[in-house]
Amino acid sequence: MSYKSHSHAQWSSRMAFVLAAVGSSVGLGNIWKFPYMTGESGGGAFVLVYLICIFLVGLPMLMSEWLLGRLGQKNPISTMGDITRRLKRSRAWVLIGVAGILGAYLILSFYSVIGGWALAYIQMAVVDTFSGLDNDSVGTLFGNLLASPVELLLWHSLFMIMTIGVVVGGVAGGLERAAKTLMPALAVLLVLLVGYAATTGAFAEGAAYLFTPDFSKITRDGILAALGHAFFTLSLGMGIMMAYGSYLSDDVNIGRSALIVVVMDTVIALLAGLAIFPIVFANGLDAAAGPGLIFQTLPLAFGNMAGGWLFGLLFFVLLVFAAWTSAISLLEPLVEWIEERSPLSRVGSTIVAGLATWALGLATVLSFNIWGDFAPLGMFDKFAGMTIFDLLDYVTSKLLLPLTGLATVMFVGWFMGRDELRSQLNMSDGAFTLWRVAVRFIAPIGVVIVFVSSL
Ligand code: TRP
Repeated sequence: MSYKSHSHAQWSSRMAFVLAAVGSSVGLGNIWKFPYMTGESGGGAFVLVYLICIFLVGLPMLMSEWLLGRLGQKNPISTMGDITRRLKRSRAWVLIGVAGILGAYLILSFYSVIGGWALAYIQMAVVDTFSGLDNDSVGTLFGNLLASPVELLLWHSLFMIMTIGVVVGGVAGGLERAAKTLMPALAVLLVLLVGYAATTGAFAEGAAYLFTPDFSKITRDGILAALGHAFFTLSLGMGIMMAYGSYLSDDVNIGRSALIVVVMDTVIALLAGLAIFPIVFANGLDAAAGPGLIFQTLPLAFGNMAGGWLFGLLFFVLLVFAAWTSAISLLEPLVEWIEERSPLSRVGSTIVAGLATWALGLATVLSFNIWGDFAPLGMFDKFAGMTIFDLLDYVTSKLLLPLTGLATVMFVGWFMGRDELRSQLNMSDGAFTLWRVAVRFIAPIGVVIVFVSSL
C-alpha cells in the first residue's frame, strides 16, 4: 500500500542519498556548536551523554523520519496529512510537519549568519590577517566583526545567495552535486587538521578532555543541551530527514543507511573536537569561550604557527562547506512546501523562501551589535539577558527539536501498525524489535525525563 506519485523526484542512487544526508547532518553543529557546547559543559561527561542520546534516541528517530517521508512522498506537512488520513489518525499529527518547517526556517535564519562569520574568516585568512595575533587582538578581530551590522549583513547575504543558488537546482541537480563534491573534501581537510593538532604537544590533554567524563561537571541543563544537540546535529525533528526520505526509493535499506549517517556525523564531531581542543590547551586558551570559541581561539593558533595562514584558510573553507550543505537542507522543506502548494516554480519558491529567511536573519545580525542588550523575554528569569539570537537557538534546540522529535517517535511507535513498519524496514527480526523498543519506550521516556527535569 504505497502511494508513490511517480512525478516526485528521486535520488539517483543510495550512495547519493547517504551523501546528501551526511551533508545535511554534518555542519556548523559538528564543528562550531559541538566543541563550544562541550567546552561550556566541562568536557567528557557532556560528550558521553551526547553519545548516548545520539545512539539511543537519534538513530531510531532518524529511521522513523525517513520511513514516514518515504511512505508519504511529499513535503512534511502533506506527508503527515496523507498518512494520518489513511491510518484514520488525528489530524493534529500534521503539527509535526508544521513545527518542522517553522523550525527549519528559524534555524536557517541564524545559521546563515554564523555561516557568514566563516566566510568572513576565509577572507581574513586569505589576506593573512591572523599572522602574529595575540590574545587581545584576536578578540578584537572577532569583536569588530560582530560590532559591524553592515559587515555581518553582507556575509549573511552572500551565504544565503550561495544556499539559494544550490537549492534552485532541485534534488539531483543541486543537492546531490553539492554533496558529492563537498563531503569528501571536508573529510580530507578535517583529517589534515587533526594531524596538525597532534603536533601541538597538547594532543593527549585535548583527547583526555573529550573522553574522560567528570560527572561533577554535568548539570540538568547540560543534559538537555546534549539531547537537543543530538537532534540538531542529525538534522532531526524538523521534517528535514522526512523531506529527504520522500525522495527515497523503496529498495534503499533505511536501517543501514541511518547507521552510516549517524556514525559519520559522530566521527566528524569528535574529529573536530580532536582538532580544536589540543590547539586550545596548547595555547592556554579558554575552552568555555562560548559561540566565539573557534573564531577566537583558532586564529590565534593559526597566526602563530608556520604556514598557519594555510591551515586557517583550509579550516574556514571546511567550515563553510559543512555549513553550506546543511543550510541547503534547512531551506529544502520550506521550498518543497511552497512549490507543492503554490503556483510558483522551483526557482520562484526557492527565491521566496530564501528571501524570507534572509529577512529574519537580520534580527540575528542585529543581536550582536545594535540589539545586543535587547532581551525580548528578559522579564522571565529563565530568559534574562538572552538576545534574539540566543532565543532562536534556545527555542529551536531546546524546545522545538525535542518536542517535535518526541511527537514523531510517539506517532511511529504507538499509532502506526507493526506490519506497515516492518514492510518499510528491511532488517533482521532482532534488529527490528530493538528499533521498535527504542521508538516506543527508550526515546520517548528519555526525552520526557530530560525535558521535565530541566524545567
Ligand atoms: N545538522 C546540521 C548541523 O549540525 C544543522 C541542520 C541541518 C539542522 N538541517 C537541520 C538542524 C535540521 C536541525 C534540523 O549543523
